[in-house]
Amino acid sequence: MGSVRWAFPCAAWRPRREEWLLAARLVQPEEKDRIGQFVFARDAKAALAGRLLIRKLIAEKLHIPWNEICLQRTSKGKPFLANNMSSTCSNYNFNVSHQGDYAVLAAEPELQVGIDIMKTSLPGSSSIPNFFRIMKRQFTEAEWGVIKSMNNEWMQLDMFYRHWALKESFLKAIGVGIGFNLQRIEFNVSPLQLEIGKVYQETKLLLDGDEEEWTFEETRLDDNHHVAVALGKQEEYRQNHSHDSL
Ligand SMILES: CC(C)(COP(=O)(O)OP(=O)(O)OC[C@H]1O[C@@H](n2cnc3c(N)ncnc32)[C@H](O)[C@@H]1OP(=O)(O)O)[C@@H](O)C(=O)NCCC(=O)NCCS
Repeated sequence: MGSVRWAFPCAAWRPRREEWLLAARLVQPEEKDRIGQFVFARDAKAALAGRLLIRKLIAEKLHIPWNEICLQRTSKGKPFLANNMSSTCSNYNFNVSHQGDYAVLAAEPELQVGIDIMKTSLPGSSSIPNFFRIMKRQFTEAEWGVIKSMNNEWMQLDMFYRHWALKESFLKAIGVGIGFNLQRIEFNVSPLQLEIGKVYQETKLLLDGDEEEWTFEETRLDDNHHVAVALGKQEEYRQNHSHDSL
């Protein structure tokens, strides 16, 4: 089965009407309905691309016929495969993210996985310093120190979104969604500059002040898209951190 990392440039995807209708027919009815409710076409396209990536993964890697794939969501919204699986496939983990110009997917045969993509873009209605003030509680003092140490406001914003992608990737791996106290997780990013297209694994996570045995893969897809993939051992996390305490 192996590890999978895919990125699909959904902003550049311009389906003709019949292609769109065909694509929408290929996802489960409740997802088709959900996607139909998006106000902006770009959000619908990104969400549909995310679902199609998951179905392509399951069909190709787990050899389940497309029309037999049954996806459900946890109470917090994380999609999982609900088909009865042999024990070799039952730990297969996947996660998608869609933001900016891409939909991305990461999958792992044994590890817990969460993925997040963030596009660096100017805040809509305020200056960058004001935006940072509003977002103050999302990051720790040490993280803000790194963000604000960058040379200019655009680089600070870029570092902000890099941290954001890292935090989200971890929250998505453990599946908790919103409501997690973000001050409990702190990233020590390394190296400070990322080259486009290279994959880095040097960044460390502290949870409640202790270094965690999680791996974070970071990639800069282009000038303004950061992707972070969080990878953790399933059993270790369950034993040390019961979800009740999160
Ligand atoms: C869904 C959530 C986990 C992430 O949303 P997001 O970053 O806006 O969106 P992304 O594009 O990265 O991911 C969305 C996809 O993640 C998956 N997802 C949904 N809920 C999830 C969960 N609880 N855990 C993991 N993955 C989830 C879904 O596939 C979803 O796409 P879909 O609904 O179209 O099928 C959302 O609950 C959230 O925003 N949580 C954290 C918020 C927060 O405090 N962030 C601060 C970081 S500094």
